Amino acid sequence: MSIGEPLPRIDGSIKVTGAARYTADLRVPNMLHAVFVTAIIPAGRVTSVDKREALAEPGVVRVLTHDDMPRSKVAIAGPPFAHSFLPLQDDEVRHEGQPVALVLAETLEAAEAGAKKVSIRYEARTPKTPVAPLWPELDRIALTPKNTGYFFLEPEFAKGDANEELRLAKTRVEGVYSQPSRHHNPMEPSAVLAQWEGDALTVYASTQHVYAVQRGLAALFGISSDRVRVISKHTGGAFGVKGLIWPQEALAALAAKTVGRPVRVVLSRANMYSFLGYQPRIVQKMALGADDRGVLAAVTHDVVNLTSMTDDFIEFATEASKSLYATRSMYLRQRAERAHVPMPTAMRAPVEGPGLWALESAMDELAVDLGVDPLDLRLANYAESDPATGAPWSSKKLREAYEEGARLFGWRDRPRAPRREGDWIIGHGMASCLMGTFRFPSRAQLTLRRDGTAVIATGTQDIGTGTLTIFPQIAADVLGLPSGNIALELGDTNLPEAGPAYGSSSTMGVGAAVLAAAQDVRSKLARLANLAPKEAVMTGGRIGLAGAAYGLPIADVMDHAGETEVIGTGAFDPAQHGAGYSMRTFGAVFVEVGVDPELGLLRLRRVVGSYSAGRIINPRTARAQLLGGIIWGWGMAAMEQSAFDVSLGRFLAKNLAGVAIPVNADIPPDITVHFVAETDDKASPIGGKGVGELGATGVAAAVANAVFHATGKRIRDLPITPDKLVV
Ligand code: MOS
Repeated sequence: MSIGEPLPRIDGSIKVTGAARYTADLRVPNMLHAVFVTAIIPAGRVTSVDKREALAEPGVVRVLTHDDMPRSKVAIAGPPFAHSFLPLQDDEVRHEGQPVALVLAETLEAAEAGAKKVSIRYEARTPKTPVAPLWPELDRIALTPKNTGYFFLEPEFAKGDANEELRLAKTRVEGVYSQPSRHHNPMEPSAVLAQWEGDALTVYASTQHVYAVQRGLAALFGISSDRVRVISKHTGGAFGVKGLIWPQEALAALAAKTVGRPVRVVLSRANMYSFLGYQPRIVQKMALGADDRGVLAAVTHDVVNLTSMTDDFIEFATEASKSLYATRSMYLRQRAERAHVPMPTAMRAPVEGPGLWALESAMDELAVDLGVDPLDLRLANYAESDPATGAPWSSKKLREAYEEGARLFGWRDRPRAPRREGDWIIGHGMASCLMGTFRFPSRAQLTLRRDGTAVIATGTQDIGTGTLTIFPQIAADVLGLPSGNIALELGDTNLPEAGPAYGSSSTMGVGAAVLAAAQDVRSKLARLANLAPKEAVMTGGRIGLAGAAYGLPIADVMDHAGETEVIGTGAFDPAQHGAGYSMRTFGAVFVEVGVDPELGLLRLRRVVGSYSAGRIINPRTARAQLLGGIIWGWGMAAMEQSAFDVSLGRFLAKNLAGVAIPVNADIPPDITVHFVAETDDKASPIGGKGVGELGATGVAAAVANAVFHATGKRIRDLPITPDKLVV
């Protein structure tokens, strides 16, 4: 099967049968298991550590703390590190859950038993805790971010005089929209196995970017990158929390160096809530000014997100307002609230995801105020070019996405008044979807053998999105072979360097490199066959001229040339593609919800998501990504929140038991994922863009808009739990 065919996931069976080996499955001789002891206070210092009882535990080999952990060779500042301090380098406690000791033992059980017996004394300071998510308070304490590398855009953006335009506007809506912190809950917790041989380090890690881990650890030890090999064959979900280097990766490598033995750390679910990233709480003040037909004249968007004491993580929710609608003025501002909390990080559908919660809720409020259909309001403000820069779009079929989505949903024919069905009130809502387009340089190598099999080698990683399935499809298309003949080797820094598995970027970056490598193989084979490379096509295991009735079998060409294989290379460099164009993916999501006002229940009944995301390589895996995104969006809308206890200065939940996330029973079968026909030849030669995160955007607002339609209640604080709906 090749591009455009709905090939099922080729890694499906090894994953569900347990044959796929994750980092936590790996063992090497002489390996020690490591377990973290984490701080029980949110702020202060460690005054003493008594290791005696822990060391007396059978099997415990060593207890490392800030006293005896070797120091990093560099001051960590910014990415690829997730934050700029490394635990166990000094006695300071910067948040509850920070690692303060690492227990190394012959077995996991011994390490866990030892960890319970490490006795730590603290000197507690009064922590800075998050204030209530209310606007005037947050506005007063919010800080303008310092450039620590954890944000990538200007914290302030202005076009025209938005405040004046807002003042003059015939119609204004204004609201404050909040969403709580939410944790990533990948099925596989983060894990790392570090092994030294002399001054060479091999690290097996559950990561979204093997090269980030390689570079960061090389810097940490003051060695060159080629002394560090990072391997990640399977990563069991990530959602952003495995994109940077977190403490366990650095500390496992430091510990392995210290004790001269390989060290493996598999984080507990509690650890995931203790010192890994999460999407921070975000509060957004949004105002729209429009004429009496709803044409926007001003958008102001003021965002404050929670961050740690050490670094400014900024959730650029204002990107939504910057990119989605034409408006002659805008004022956008990003600030942070600092507290003794773990460092936040990007989480699936960051940036525009949170931004659309505010913007698309406010747009609905504007539509209601004006008595305009919400879809017509979007169309009236359609941005033909980038609203912030004026640059043309690389491609945009949002108008088609609106129209086709509306048709599939029956939006235009929906009942205008909410409908009653027994105890349920049925409401409808819609929102636009939007996601940034991130592209990273990538390389790939492709080896075609005389028997018509091939192997692609590229140092990307598979986090469960369909990567392993679609890259062989891309090569199969060029080589005229069944994609089952094409294997893919990935997840290793010894392979040609490829981009990270985040930012919905893999298809464009790695996919384009694979495409180029396959084309290179075809050209080389054509030359061996004395065919003009530009005119050669491959099909059915043969190479020939386009339009010719038959071609030469691959084996014959290679035999004749005395070769057993042909190796091609390919690269994608974003700087070479689409300069001067703005790139985004777009969509529209239409939902039907049911509300039981007496019990406060909210149910999702049906969804149509209609997307403009470039060429779709594999409709099945792409649909799965968008479907997963919609479900993710439902979680954001109705369920997910990581409650923070201000008296304890910590996230309350330390495991999944207290965390509501969507399960099958929450999700109706009636979800339609639709892609408009589109090819974006500017974003990448592959014609596609990103699909991993787009589906998660817009959903929360569409749901809240449907809730308003059903009940007349405008919910501006996520998640929409029963207490907010009960009569
Ligand atoms: Mo995603 S937050 O780009 O892993």
